[in-house]
Amino acid sequence: MRVGVLTGGGDCPGLNAVIRAAVRKGVQEYGYTFTGFRDGWRGPLEGQVVPLDIPAVRGILPRGGTILGSSRTNPLTAVDGVRRIKENLAKYEVDALIAIGGEDTLGVAARLSDEYGVPCVGVPKTIDNDLSATDYTFGFDTAVNIATEAIDRLHTTAESHMRVLVVEVMGRHAGWIALHSGLAGGANAILIPEQRFDVAEVCGWVESRFKVRYAPIVVVAEGAMPKDGQMVLKDGSLDSFGHVRLSGVGEWLAKEIERRTGQEARTTVLGHVQRGGTPSAFDRWLATRFGLHAIEAVRDQAYGAMVALRGTDVVRVPLAEATAKLKTVDPRLYAEAGVFFG
Ligand code: F6P
Repeated sequence: MRVGVLTGGGDCPGLNAVIRAAVRKGVQEYGYTFTGFRDGWRGPLEGQVVPLDIPAVRGILPRGGTILGSSRTNPLTAVDGVRRIKENLAKYEVDALIAIGGEDTLGVAARLSDEYGVPCVGVPKTIDNDLSATDYTFGFDTAVNIATEAIDRLHTTAESHMRVLVVEVMGRHAGWIALHSGLAGGANAILIPEQRFDVAEVCGWVESRFKVRYAPIVVVAEGAMPKDGQMVLKDGSLDSFGHVRLSGVGEWLAKEIERRTGQEARTTVLGHVQRGGTPSAFDRWLATRFGLHAIEAVRDQAYGAMVALRGTDVVRVPLAEATAKLKTVDPRLYAEAGVFFG
């Protein structure tokens, strides 16, 4: 049995831990051989491969990023995409594919598996934690820790200058990072894409904090939008899955707070620092378990399945179910977080 492995979409701490666990167990327990596909779906589409064996995965557990490279290539929109993938799998004698990715990468895996008979097993990754059918994706815990540390640091500088600090975190469609890091870091307001915010209300909270001489921290997810229809700046470009690239809600909000309240405000956009570097212990644990279970799924020919965390168990769920709809923040959880002012 020869197993292909690819990592697609935005990179995320823990990808290398999955690759390492799957390769080690596959080689040592089942006698499998592996082929690494470069740069997400571009690898099988264009036949770009890298050798993947035990020496290749030695020492990569704590390393961020992915040794296989990543891209947002969508093979289903490429000319003859499915045929080319099938031809390349045959050329490299790959019997099964492990696709490690988020909604886009795994959405492709679901369709290739269910509609075109390409044997795929999925492993969920994303710092955004917005994949359905799994309690957590690896990468999320690391991102939350990075954002929380940043918020802690911003509290002290905000207080020294009595300024508003707006912290923009990642989360295009879901506010999980904002919610968790905002709570962990003691933010005064948390704004998420799932619920439009009222700028006037946010300014009211900010002013009430100043009345008690406390400099407020506002955590805003990059995909959060104001209620009153004021457009957040977008750069207008689309990726191959049709997502608009976002930019600017944090900057826009800080300016609006200054204009409306007269209080000095600054913005910190955490950006890709949330995706870089070494994974947390939790993410290493989760990614390693996902890798071990993914190779077991290949052994069982459980194609069309994704490994998922349910409670403390790793289970298999249909890829199609996991990618049918995003897991967004439950309004009850958001209400529980509330805002802290006065
Ligand atoms: O999907 C993860 C994510 O980090 C989103 O939160 C963010 O919008 C996106 O990736 C940005 O990715 P890139 O800059 O690589 O296009």
